[in-house]
Amino acid sequence: MPQIRIDNIQMTYTDSGAGPPVVLLHGYPFNRSLWTEQIEELSEAHRVVAPDLRGFGESDSFENVATMDRMAQDVFLLMEALGISTAAVGGLSMGGYVALAFYRQFSTRVRSLILSDTRSQADTEDGKQTREKQAKQILAEGMAGIVDSMLPKLLTPETVSKRPELVKRIRDMMLKTKPAGASAALLGMAARDDQTELLARIAVPTLILVGRDDAITPVEDSEKMHREIKGSSLVVIENAGHVSNLERSDQFNKELIQFLRA
Ligand code: MLT
Repeated sequence: MPQIRIDNIQMTYTDSGAGPPVVLLHGYPFNRSLWTEQIEELSEAHRVVAPDLRGFGESDSFENVATMDRMAQDVFLLMEALGISTAAVGGLSMGGYVALAFYRQFSTRVRSLILSDTRSQADTEDGKQTREKQAKQILAEGMAGIVDSMLPKLLTPETVSKRPELVKRIRDMMLKTKPAGASAALLGMAARDDQTELLARIAVPTLILVGRDDAITPVEDSEKMHREIKGSSLVVIENAGHVSNLERSDQFNKELIQFLRA
């Protein structure tokens, strides 16, 4: 897989297909393989770039706090290095926080936005404290405890009971995450600013996708973004939770392709 020096890290990324560029940003605590199904299908007509964000997958991380702004700057530097001037920029959950941070800093580089299972609000005070506790726990004990408590919140009960291979894939992806990277991202998410004010200034076509049963960034969060982002489209994916792109990859891809064609 290609690797590139970006800022102070070695970043690994997938770069597949040819055509109008699409940059896909994974959530926490995942890696670029979160997008395997989307990369396969979209790369028939697009150049799809999916990095392992700072601290995740095969990319390095050196700091204690990896902010969403810094991750967005990494994405900008990656696009520069790959000769991509503008792209459809999409993110799931934490990837959506990074996509919004990217738009705030580099709006002229965004042709369109895809915001999936994410939200514009910052963490509540309680949410910040929980992240700080989790970061400490991960550094002391590794990923396993967090994975076990998080997994049932990511997926619908039906997915958990009927699709053991998908559950295993997501679990393995999370377990592979380096504790230092996960901890830095948790503290980065806790430190992120509220982006709600930005929504009214978004002036590119925007697709908002969310699983009907998303327990982490519920449908109301997407409805709020839809109300604020002029001309945006909202698609609620039935029978899907937080990882809607994997739980219903068929519908997710159909919506994505239709949006990118338009
Ligand atoms: C994610 O899927 O990226 C995280 O659940 C986001 C979050 O914890 O806010």
